[in-house]
Amino acid sequence: MHVDKAKMTLGVNIDHIAVLREARKINDPDPLMALAICAQSGADQITIHLREDRRHIHDEDARRIIASSPLPVNLECAIEPSIIDIVCTLRPHRATLVPEKRQEVTTEGGLDVSGNYDSIYKAVQQLKEREIEISLFIDPTREAIEASERLGVEWVELHTGSYANLYAMRHSALPHSHHAIEPLNLSRHALDSLLENAYGAIVDAANYARSLGLKVAAGHGLNYQNIAPIVTIETIEELNIGQSIIARSVFTGLATAVSDMKALCHR
Ligand code: PXP
Repeated sequence: MHVDKAKMTLGVNIDHIAVLREARKINDPDPLMALAICAQSGADQITIHLREDRRHIHDEDARRIIASSPLPVNLECAIEPSIIDIVCTLRPHRATLVPEKRQEVTTEGGLDVSGNYDSIYKAVQQLKEREIEISLFIDPTREAIEASERLGVEWVELHTGSYANLYAMRHSALPHSHHAIEPLNLSRHALDSLLENAYGAIVDAANYARSLGLKVAAGHGLNYQNIAPIVTIETIEELNIGQSIIARSVFTGLATAVSDMKALCHR
């Protein structure tokens, strides 16, 4: 399968605009307003997550975004039959199946594909019938890739959360999230080695997935500082980035935040 080595596409996850709205439970800011700005600023895709608890994006947001986005919409969702039914009705360009826990602050790890094989298989068949492209959000392991390949999906998205946490611990002495790697007082040398392993796992997983004919995306915890090494991995075609872009947009405006990130995606 041919990979365009110069091209790294950017999916902008706009959930955090809805997070801000939900802080007041009003209708401002409206995530729909982000669509044209993202498109004009170089984004290639809009990503949203319809969580079971509807803590940010609601069904009506998803419906309006899919109906009016000038860019393809990648809808993240759990392997929960009632959610899959909604996704089949909404018919986004792509569905990314993610693990979901009610109490989590964000998606903490990849799907256990082998452990949930039958329910994922069922969801995949249902989505395929509706001609929705499918991606599985997985940890960067060969086992998860092989199970994904057996399911016949087009894409895998590699979870970059461990890499992002370690990068933050190594470069700023601050964990990226509250799920920092313990213990927190690791030496620089130890962090270098953990970071190298986490990065190596992403490189290996991306190359392996590509060799099996899968398209490869990556995301979670990526930001303006830690993105550079990821962009050099030629077998990764797409990044999905949310929190860091929306956080920066508070200060720079969304257009600049998106176009700055897109510039960093160039290789
Ligand atoms: N990709 C997937 C599958 C996700 O679940 C998320 C988080 O919602 C992201 C990418 C974006 O992560 P972040 O907001 O940390 O950039």
